[in-house]
Amino acid sequence: MNTAPRVLVTGGAGFIGSHYVRTLLGSSGPGGPEVTVLDKLTYAGNPANLDPVRGHPGFAFVHGDVCDPVLVDKLVSEHDQIVHFAAESHVDRSIAGADAFVRTNVLGTQTLLDAAVRNRVSTVVQVSTDEVYGSIDTGSWTEDQPLRPNSPYAATKASADLIALSYHRTHGLDVRVTRCSNNYGHHQFPEKVVPLFITRLLDGGRVPLYGDGSHVRDWLHVDDHVRAVELVRARGRAGEVYNIGGDTELSNRELTGLLLEACGADWSRVDHVEDRKGHDRRYSVDWTKIRDELGYRPGKDFATGLAETVAWYGQNRSWWEPLLDRAAL
Ligand SMILES: NC(=O)c1ccc[n+]([C@@H]2O[C@H](COP(=O)([O-])OP(=O)(O)OC[C@H]3O[C@@H](n4cnc5c(N)ncnc54)[C@H](O)[C@@H]3O)[C@@H](O)[C@H]2O)c1
Repeated sequence: MNTAPRVLVTGGAGFIGSHYVRTLLGSSGPGGPEVTVLDKLTYAGNPANLDPVRGHPGFAFVHGDVCDPVLVDKLVSEHDQIVHFAAESHVDRSIAGADAFVRTNVLGTQTLLDAAVRNRVSTVVQVSTDEVYGSIDTGSWTEDQPLRPNSPYAATKASADLIALSYHRTHGLDVRVTRCSNNYGHHQFPEKVVPLFITRLLDGGRVPLYGDGSHVRDWLHVDDHVRAVELVRARGRAGEVYNIGGDTELSNRELTGLLLEACGADWSRVDHVEDRKGHDRRYSVDWTKIRDELGYRPGKDFATGLAETVAWYGQNRSWWEPLLDRAAL
């Protein structure tokens, strides 16, 4: 009898969720975890991201909405654990309109948590973001810092975090929250800055740099993020929050310079555009807790990760070219 957990992964056709599923199933032999992906396949969801695991005996895919209580209840009743990635994830889209963000990120999380309580699921990992903390000029956030989100996206993620943690306190549900910095890597939808710039530069086009380019983000390779989420699922503690960092703080201007260089382009390809509304100055997470408790450390240095990412987009035009229409806001 297989005693490995049956894991429901929401949003598993997206960038990070699909990395997680490919990693989990790719490294498991007979008797490994069974994984079901629940994904609505919004503009950001791509079934092709799951092609490498489609024939795996432990894999199943369900096309559906995390806000659908009947479907979610049925699926949750058939699983032991949940890793919750499904979200509307692009800040600029949340500024253009927040409806889908509130619906999926807040109501979707609540729908999932209610089903988890009803069906006595053993563990829920809520995949969150460092953006819930707001903006920090110096130093780094520890997990006990107050949440002061600024964009509608970040506010919906903060709401979901707080609801998830309340289900631990109120219902005793084993919820673990992760808050990571900006992810990069292959298979990222070409609307986020790294793949947007790479695909435009590879096509000979121009790239937009917000404001004075001084905004600072920490960059985390998606492989490192996925490894950290897996550590939290397997060995994290109930009711705890874990920050996940990549140890690579860069201003957007520095990032742009590195992307130009990696794509063989220069600053004449950059348009300086009006700043994003409410643009947070700097994010910085202190990830001492996950290092000390679970042995996490980012393994991919940024220069190598970026070179590999640029090479992947160069070799996989058939993956991203059909997405360019959908990427336009
Ligand atoms: N990308 C980052 O840098 C980053 C950083 C911090 C946190 N996160 C968080 O990580 C998670 C995954 O991010 P990503 O970059 O892979 O996002 P993504 O936009 O690439 O993928 C999101 C996935 O969720 C699915 N989805 C959306 N609404 C749904 C719904 N109502 N029901 C079911 N599925 C739905 C989409 O179809 C898609 O497959 C999100 O929760 C995001 O907030 C991302």
